[in-house]
Amino acid sequence: MSGKVGVGIIGAGVISSQYLTNLTTFADVKVLFIADLDTERARERAEEFGIPGHGTVEQLLATAEVEIVVNLTVPSAHVAVGETIISAGKHVWSEKPLALDRSGGQALLEAAESAGVRVACAPDTMLGASFQTALRTVRAGRIGDVLNGLVLLQSPGPESWHPSPEFLFDVGGGPLLDIGPYYLTALVHLLGPVTRVSATSSIARPTRVIGSGPKAGTSFPVNVPTHHGALIEFAGGAAVQAVFSFESAIRRTLLELTGTAGSMAVPDPNGFDKPTEVWELDAQEPAVIDAVGSTATRGVGVVELARAIRAGEPERASGELAYHVLDVMISIAEAAESGEAVQIASTATVPPLLPEDWDPAAATL
Ligand SMILES: NC(=O)c1ccc[n+]([C@@H]2O[C@H](COP(=O)([O-])OP(=O)(O)OC[C@H]3O[C@@H](n4cnc5c(N)ncnc54)[C@H](O)[C@@H]3O)[C@@H](O)[C@H]2O)c1
Repeated sequence: MSGKVGVGIIGAGVISSQYLTNLTTFADVKVLFIADLDTERARERAEEFGIPGHGTVEQLLATAEVEIVVNLTVPSAHVAVGETIISAGKHVWSEKPLALDRSGGQALLEAAESAGVRVACAPDTMLGASFQTALRTVRAGRIGDVLNGLVLLQSPGPESWHPSPEFLFDVGGGPLLDIGPYYLTALVHLLGPVTRVSATSSIARPTRVIGSGPKAGTSFPVNVPTHHGALIEFAGGAAVQAVFSFESAIRRTLLELTGTAGSMAVPDPNGFDKPTEVWELDAQEPAVIDAVGSTATRGVGVVELARAIRAGEPERASGELAYHVLDVMISIAEAAESGEAVQIASTATVPPLLPEDWDPAAATL
């Protein structure tokens, strides 16, 4: 096929509005259909964003012009829904995490390979102006050879604001699998593949209480650790200490790198438009480098995938990269359980930088 790429969406929940706000304005894709188990929710989103089709997953997959299906379901459904999309001969853009476990992730990638379609996966924040500027700064050698880093992701947890937060405290959730993909994908872009991890974990409270929406006041079980402390080693020799926590009353996100020539504060990898700060050795203040590039938010990865399909080139947010990040997260959880370091068997190709003038809104197809 040629020209604009037809897109369908499965999952009309919280994050679908951010995707649709962007995807309905990007010239290289056209959103044709939205499906959900709750077809009324799909209808409401279709009306809100002027999408021509809405209904069931089967109806979506029967829409011939849909080439990429964006899977915005909850993590426990990512593999099954992804496999259904692949069996309909369509490409997958999946929300993170790619799967709940290694076997699910492998099954998805193998199914796509045999069907001759692609699986790409969030996060696409790595394609935004803030992260690309930080990456360019590291690759230009501003802090020399990177030696080590520090990641802090601390919050009390998302149950106060998400109306259905149960999945965020179940297998496939917790701070590691829910927020970890942003930091670990960023670190693989910056430092290369991970080779070994060691970790600890804890669960602060066995239940939590929903804080907003129709189920406010309802308690639900916590089935995964709500804090992980990890030591992550990279093929290039760098090591990063990381905290992923839904247990802290202090809200903080931090990603710092230190190299032979200085240190830098990388902007929040769950965002698109913040500056990078570089501290040269002996500097009293940082040099602030404004973000250069697109500040459009979620959905930019779908456009990058659409253009890569038309060009016959690899997409940057590849399934291979998402599988490596999944493998690292599962290994951190296993290392915390066993008390032993875990060697990482998978690897990933580090994606190339985007050109500074890359524009997801431009009409190129
Ligand atoms: N909420 C956020 O801020 C946010 C941000 C970034 C990424 N994400 C990711 O996006 C995904 C969805 O999160 P959300 O917050 O929108 O969840 P949500 O619970 O609000 O919405 C999920 C939707 O998927 C539908 N669904 C579930 N299983 C389905 C199936 N088998 N077939 C069809 N529809 C199905 C549900 O009915 C629901 O409408 C998750 O993977 C999450 O990690 C969420």
